[in-house]
Amino acid sequence: MEDKKVTILAIESSCDETSASVIVDGIVKSNVIAGQDVHSKYGGVVPEYASRAHQLHIVPVVSEALKNAGINQTDLNAIAYTKGPGLLGALLVGHSFAKGMAMGLGIPLIAVNHMQAHILAHFIEEPKPTFPFLCLTVSGGHTQLVWVKSATELEIVGETTDDAVGEAFDKAAKIVGLGYPGGPLVDKYAKQGNPKAFKFPIPEVGEFNYSFSGIKTAFLYFAKEKGAAFLQENLADVCASMQYTLIEMLMKKLIKAAKHLGTTQVAIAGGVSANSGLRARLALEAEKQGWQVFIPAFEYCTDNAAMVAMTAHFLYEEGQFASLSESPMPRLSLKD
Ligand code: KG4
Ligand code: ZN
Repeated sequence: MEDKKVTILAIESSCDETSASVIVDGIVKSNVIAGQDVHSKYGGVVPEYASRAHQLHIVPVVSEALKNAGINQTDLNAIAYTKGPGLLGALLVGHSFAKGMAMGLGIPLIAVNHMQAHILAHFIEEPKPTFPFLCLTVSGGHTQLVWVKSATELEIVGETTDDAVGEAFDKAAKIVGLGYPGGPLVDKYAKQGNPKAFKFPIPEVGEFNYSFSGIKTAFLYFAKEKGAAFLQENLADVCASMQYTLIEMLMKKLIKAAKHLGTTQVAIAGGVSANSGLRARLALEAEKQGWQVFIPAFEYCTDNAAMVAMTAHFLYEEGQFASLSESPMPRLSLKD
């Protein structure tokens, strides 16, 4: 008799993307993502609007994910959701929906850590890293160096002591008058600029940790001193120089941590891993250091439910299910 397939529906709603994905025996069958334009005119995500947009999107997004995968609700073996970190109201929408569906279908619920999911996105497509590997996880809320011993044993070896690098990218964009989210726009203009045109100070932080609050202030002072007209005229060079500085900061500690751990398997994950400068720099460093690098496909860098589904697949295999009374956690870390 053929083994029964394990089919999981996963929901991601931690910030401003409503996403649903179906995974069958560890193979992603669908990944539907609905963005939220409502935030762009405010220059950042407005939590209350995010929750409302998730409410609007969740039913059509889940229906489409099931349809694209050719799956009926009754084929499902478990429902997974992002428990955090993220915006509490946004997380609650995904959590309540997942819980209701799991209860209605009488199947288990799986709670997924968003940062772990960014890392395990590397197992969606080939080439996949082998354990252990070092992962630089860079998003709008986190900057972490994670030693990934297995899918469920992850050790933070370094992290930011203040802001995340994604925030620094978004702030840099705001300072030069670009919209939100700024990271992809800085990336776009940086492609035409000279990364060495302007020099910014790189702060000294202990061990494998990061700090991005000082560099945000340095960008701000630079912009004030130069004035709006100068920034507009030199937009490409300014973006390229700011991006170069942030990438150098990330790479310095990544190289140090890889040496310390004696690993040659190095990965990047999270929204900022979509940055073309970081991707190119990592490929270059791979040659220099003899690393094998793992860079996710663009659609699996920024928030998506396929990475949640992939993580749920590993948790299902280990029998790690959530209690139906569990609450989402807005600020938990990889240790939770
Ligand atoms: O992982 P993500 O989608 O959401 C969080 O979990 O935070 O990351 C969002 C962050 C934002 O700060 C956004 O500006 C940044 O990732 N980002 C980029 C690029 N694409 C997204 N930063 C630099 N270059 C990019 N191409
Ligand atoms: Zn994320």
